[in-house]
Parts: sequence; structure tokens; C-alpha cells
Amino acid sequence: MVVGASGGIGRAFSAALEASPAFDQVIALSRSGEAKLDLTDPASIERAAAGLAESGADIRLVIDATGFLHDEAFAPEKSWSEIDLAHMEKAFGINAFGPALLIRHMLPLLPKEGKSVFASLSAKVGSIGDNGIGGWYSYRASKAALNQFVKTASVELKRRNKAAVIAALHPGTVDTKLSQPFAKSGLNVREPETAAADLLMVIDALRPEQSGGFFDYRGEELPW
Ligand SMILES: NC(=O)c1ccc[n+]([C@@H]2O[C@H](COP(=O)([O-])OP(=O)(O)OC[C@H]3O[C@@H](n4cnc5c(N)ncnc54)[C@H](OP(=O)(O)O)[C@@H]3O)[C@@H](O)[C@H]2O)c1
Repeated sequence: MVVGASGGIGRAFSAALEASPAFDQVIALSRSGEAKLDLTDPASIERAAAGLAESGADIRLVIDATGFLHDEAFAPEKSWSEIDLAHMEKAFGINAFGPALLIRHMLPLLPKEGKSVFASLSAKVGSIGDNGIGGWYSYRASKAALNQFVKTASVELKRRNKAAVIAALHPGTVDTKLSQPFAKSGLNVREPETAAADLLMVIDALRPEQSGGFFDYRGEELPW
């Protein structure tokens, strides 16, 4: 299942999974597609989960590829003087609260036998330990909150479903709508297809004892 299948990286994940012999079916959810899910509408998340439960699908992989950095109204803050309640509410709503509701409704659907993975796309700039340059208050803080939701859920998941894995993943800088205004020359900007392929290899290699971790597209663990 790919949530945010309309996004740059989400679309690449869906295509890669469709092409993979490892999966019988790919369920692509987004605000605009046939199967609708809006992270700011908890009922839509509940409906999607209920539909999946009813279908009896053997859900081995849930990828949350949603995220928000900027729109017409809000650009990443360069200074604390730009901190704005509506901006923070939007960033936390999409980057942290929505994924937390996905955790609530999707983790119980993971099979108890054999490996399954819930992976949420986070960002290295959400790392508190790695924050050397500041700025981007809402995005950084909302991704740090997402990481905490993932880590906290991993503790409970270990008790309830020993074979399942939950992880926060950093895709690198990828050429999408989200990064486009900020992908300066000199950064290693990669294609969504490359990022999705790399992350699928990381997901494939994840072991239950690594559940709750924060990994980049090379599989390296990132500091919180
Ligand atoms: N691109 C990068 O360089 C980069 C770097 C680090 C981390 N990331 C992370 O990677 C993830 C994917 O980003 P991307 O680069 O693929 O960005 P993107 O192309 O802008 O895709 C973002 C996705 O999030 C969805 N979304 C936004 N608000 C939503 C809501 N309320 N409910 C449901 N879905 C919603 C969008 O749906 P709509 O199509 O309906 O708007 C879209 O599918 C994000 O978590 C981002 O923070 C990206």
C-alpha cells in the first residue's frame, strides 16, 4: 500500500512495486486518486483501513510517502521571526498527525506471521542531532515529531507483532515538487525512481530488531 501515491516519490514507489514480482497487488491511495485518503481527514483514514480489513488483503508493506514543505501560502522559515501558527498547524497536520493516524489504523492490519513493514518518509532535516544550520522550523519540528511517533509505535509494535517493522526513512534530495524550489546546484539531487529503488532495498533488508529506527536511502542509521 502506498499512501501519497500522487507525489513524486510515491508515484515511483507504486510503479516499482507494480513491476515487482514480490507483490500481487499495489493499493495506491491519495487525495486525488480513485482510492481516496486525506491525512487531514481522519474519517478517510478509518475508511481506507476498514476497506482493507474487509478485503482480507495480506498487507506486507505500507509506505507513507506523504509530506508537506511549502505551498502558495507558506515557505520554509529562514528566521524565528517567520514562525506562524497556521504554517506550523499545516506542517504538523500533514507531516506528523496524519502519519500518526496511519500508524493507529494500519499497524493493526499487518499480519502476525512473517515480515511486514510500515515505512514513513521522514527527512534528514528532521534530525535534531544533525541540525547544524537551523531554519525550516515547521518542517524540521514536524518531521522530528513524526520520528518520535515512529519510535514510540515501534515499542508497542514489538509487543503486539514481533515480525513487523516500522521505520522512518530519508530518501535523500529527490527531484520532486516538494524539493524543486530548494534543490540548489551542488546538492546530490536524485530521480524519484532511483530514490524509490534504493529505499525498497533498504526496506527489504530491514530486520525486526531494527524496528523504530531512522535510516537513509543507503540503509545508514541517522541520529535522532
Ligand atoms: N523530495 C525530497 O528531496 C525529499 C527530501 C527529504 C524527504 N522527503 C520526504 O519524502 C516524502 C515524499 O515527498 P515528495 O518529494 O515525493 O513530495 P511531493 O511530490 O510533493 O509529494 C507529496 C505527497 O504528499 C501528499 N499529501 C500532501 N498533503 C496531503 C494530505 N493532506 N493528505 C494526503 N496526502 C497528502 C501529496 O498529495 P497531493 O498530490 O494530493 O498533493 C503527494 O502525494 C515527504 O515526506 C517528504 O518530506 C523528500
